[in-house]
Amino acid sequence: AREIRINPSILAADFVNMQTELARIAAADFAHVDVMDNHFVPNLTFGPQMVERIQQTSPIPLDVHLMIEDPDRWAPGYAELGAASVTFHLEAARDPIALARRLRDIGARAGVAVKPGTPASALDELWGEVDQILVMTVEPGFGGQSFMPETMPKLRLLADEAARRGSAVWLQVDGGISASTIAQAAEAGADTFVAGSAVFGADDPGAAIAALRGQAAA
Ligand code: DX5
Ligand code: ZN
Repeated sequence: AREIRINPSILAADFVNMQTELARIAAADFAHVDVMDNHFVPNLTFGPQMVERIQQTSPIPLDVHLMIEDPDRWAPGYAELGAASVTFHLEAARDPIALARRLRDIGARAGVAVKPGTPASALDELWGEVDQILVMTVEPGFGGQSFMPETMPKLRLLADEAARRGSAVWLQVDGGISASTIAQAAEAGADTFVAGSAVFGADDPGAAIAALRGQAAA
C-alpha cells in the first residue's frame, strides 16, 4: 500500500497555547505551518522567530507552507532553522529551480505550491527539482474554506506525470480536507493531506487523524 501522510495545519490551533496544541497532534506525520505575509495572501500569521520556537518545541517535524512574496529571499531561513520541508508558491518565486536547489542543499525537502488557477503545465520545469508538490484545494489565505473539487483534474494530471516519470515526489493537498472530501483527493492521486479545522476542531484530534488516515487509504 502507498504511504499516506496526515499533516494537521496549526493555523487552526490556539496560537497562545501552541505547545499544548502540538501535543494533541502527536499521531500526525508533520505539523503544517502556514506562514502568511499579508501581501501574497490577505492574511498575516507569523514569521521565522515563531517558527523557530515551534521547531524547538514540536514533537513532530515541520512542514512549512510559505504564502509570502519573495520566497527566494525568505525561504532558505526556514530550512536553516530546521524545518523538514519548506514549500514556496510558484506564483511568487523569481527563480523556482534555484530556490528548490538551495532548500535541498540546506537539507530540507523542497516543495512547490500552486494556487487553484495555476495549471499543472506551470510545473513542467520543476520535475526532479522538488520533493513535494502542493496542490491548493482552496484559494490560499484562510482556514475553514470549502474544498474545490475542480482542482482534482490537475492533481490527476500531476499524479499521472509522476507515475510516467517514476518520480518519488509527494503530492500534497491543502484546504477543505475532511472526512467527507479526503477520499476524492486520495483517489485523484494525493498521498499527503493537510487538514486544519478537521483536526483541531475535533474533540479528539488523535481520533480525527486516525479517521482521515483510514478514509485516505480506503
Ligand atoms: C490555507 C492554508 C491551509 C489551511 C487549511 O491557506 O494553507 O493550510 O490551514 O485549513 P482547513 O483544513 O481548515 O481548510
Ligand atoms: Zn497550508
